[in-house]
Amino acid sequence: MITFNEKEKTFLLTNNSISLFIYINANKHLETVYFGKASKDISLENNRKKYEDNYSTCYFDHSTNKDMVTLDGASNHFSRFELATHSVGDHRPAPIIIQKKDGNYETAFEYVSHRIYKGYPHYEENPHAHDGNIETLEITLKDEFDEKLIAKYNISIDLDKDIIVKNIEFKNQGEEQVKILRALSMELDLEDNNYVVHHFRGKWGRERGEVTNPIIDGEQIIASNYGRSSHEENPFIFLAKQGADYSTGEVIGLNIIYSGNFKCSIFSDYANKSRITYGLNDYNFCWLLSKNETFITPQAVICYSENGIDHMSQTMHRFVKENVITYKKDNEYKPILFNSWEGSEMSFNTESIIAYIDDSIKIGSELFVLDDGWFSYRNDDTTSLGDWWVNKDKIDLDKVIKHCHKNNLKFGIWFEPEMISYESELYKNHPEYAVGYTRNKQALQRHQFLLDMCNDEAVNNIYLQMKKVIDEYDIDYIKWDHNRDLKETFIPHLGNDRQGEVTHRLVLGYYKLIERLTKEYPNIMFEGCASGGGRFDLGTLYYCPQIWASDNSRPASRMFIQYNTSLGYPLSCIGSHVNASEQSSYTTKAYLSLFGTYGYEMNPNYLSNEEKEELNFVANIYKEYHKELFEEGILYHLASPTEKDYMSMQVVNKDATKSALIVTINEFKTHFKTTIKLKGLSKDKNYLIITKDSQKEVSGKSLLEKGLDISIDNPNNLEVNSYFALIKQV
Ligand code: DGJ
Repeated sequence: MITFNEKEKTFLLTNNSISLFIYINANKHLETVYFGKASKDISLENNRKKYEDNYSTCYFDHSTNKDMVTLDGASNHFSRFELATHSVGDHRPAPIIIQKKDGNYETAFEYVSHRIYKGYPHYEENPHAHDGNIETLEITLKDEFDEKLIAKYNISIDLDKDIIVKNIEFKNQGEEQVKILRALSMELDLEDNNYVVHHFRGKWGRERGEVTNPIIDGEQIIASNYGRSSHEENPFIFLAKQGADYSTGEVIGLNIIYSGNFKCSIFSDYANKSRITYGLNDYNFCWLLSKNETFITPQAVICYSENGIDHMSQTMHRFVKENVITYKKDNEYKPILFNSWEGSEMSFNTESIIAYIDDSIKIGSELFVLDDGWFSYRNDDTTSLGDWWVNKDKIDLDKVIKHCHKNNLKFGIWFEPEMISYESELYKNHPEYAVGYTRNKQALQRHQFLLDMCNDEAVNNIYLQMKKVIDEYDIDYIKWDHNRDLKETFIPHLGNDRQGEVTHRLVLGYYKLIERLTKEYPNIMFEGCASGGGRFDLGTLYYCPQIWASDNSRPASRMFIQYNTSLGYPLSCIGSHVNASEQSSYTTKAYLSLFGTYGYEMNPNYLSNEEKEELNFVANIYKEYHKELFEEGILYHLASPTEKDYMSMQVVNKDATKSALIVTINEFKTHFKTTIKLKGLSKDKNYLIITKDSQKEVSGKSLLEKGLDISIDNPNNLEVNSYFALIKQV
């Protein structure tokens, strides 16, 4: 519910568990009076701190030639703001900096009016939150230094889950162009800095390693300037109050519905308060806003939990499933995927692929994906990106697809639409389609350049080529890859005053193309990918209900990648495949893959009958339980591999009658024993603990309070071993 108190000039946004209380102060700036768990005690008087130092509220009024002091003690450099000013007294990092035509950097947005409406704001071209029991407060503000510059600050609250979504829309109603130098999407000023910051950094093959540190004095920036959300930092971040754990304490989750350069700044001032601002990275950023133009910032997501990390994580999962993903069949059963990449890379022909398909069926596959190498002259990674026509000399695609469909397998294919190879027809005809083509030393990564997604003609060219393939062949799935990051940022056709728009415009071009294709082909499931998990973000999830988590499927790494990714994203979107790596048995790899979207990536012709049986056993668990447990169930994080020498997760269905538990040991051990307290089960019921070769009955009370004894042997001297149990109420 959102209410406005006219007399006090306050807004209260609240659901049953969280509240945000905003005050329009005497300077017409928006202050955050309160943010946290819902409380009946929220009022201006109770919650607005009286600040010791309010000199900055004094000003000399030239219209009256008098010194003025605002009556309510609003303090530019002490108050908690919803949208701070820049360069007019508040010395903390501001979310917005706009340089006016006269050169002035001062930015101060003042309240003009507001409206409250049902639902999220809707955007045609940007991925955005949608659906749900939502109310939005749209506050219209104008810049004190350019009253024709309007900002609409949207704050939406979910009445059924503890999520607040914020963004800003700028409109220039004046004649003069303005320069947006920083346009973040949200600000959250907290009363203290007593939090631990958790963020997820890595590199190719080591995505989303969890890193924690207390809020530091000064500014900590968690950001990507790789042109995509990146392997190096993920946009999901959370702050846990000192002492909070998985089930208790205050935790604030943050994310942004965006796939490009992002920046989250966490600033702690000399008074130990903290300010979080989050949105588009302002690295090389400058957006020119001309008369009547609008600029929309991506939506930032804030999730508040007073019950620890798992409540935040489960709420984020619901948000992604219910309010981000748009794929219309997301709630249907997702087929077991077999991908050709690790098994054959680009060396295949029609016969070898058909032999793959036949053996993939024997391990339960339901969707066969032909990865890279099917088009034009592509036999290695040095050529052909941009030439999206089937290499009929190499592969009889029609025959392959018919073979899949005849055997009740869906068929999927790989594209890398936003790239261009030097060795390609497209480059020969249009070198200007490659970002950086004017440079003498054009950077290469995997022998390829970024396609200029700011160029509508280039985007349309790729669209038409993809459309031709999709229309000609019966395709059920597309894997959308992206194998290099942004290394050049000069795009001449944008003009010399618009180079600050390049990074964002490239992302908008990606959205334009994928939006067009997903709208036109709503039955095709798109899976996101960027050299593994380099673009695992809410912007991509809007279009792609699953994202390939990492090119590293070795279980010792995977247990980290999947566990950490699942803190912010639901299991059902985490692409996870069993491969042929030798660190563990196929059974262990398969159990791990169950905690994601189950699939395979190996040469299936090399599998022994025993291995096929092992995989089939787990595939059948997936088929029976994926939807109820892993897709729609509630996920609990029982042991973090970053903190312990093992990893454990548990999923529980909605009525607590079924559950699945995994424990994976992350280093070589001959024998491992521990006791793990389970979560989410009914105290007063008994449960059967079913492993591959045992079954026992235990009370819910004992499982929750005493825990389950786990013991893992390692007879084959493998590096990674696991325990997996299905748990069923009796
Ligand atoms: C990188 C992806 O992560 C892999 O799964 C595979 O699709 C290759 N690209 C193909 O080039």
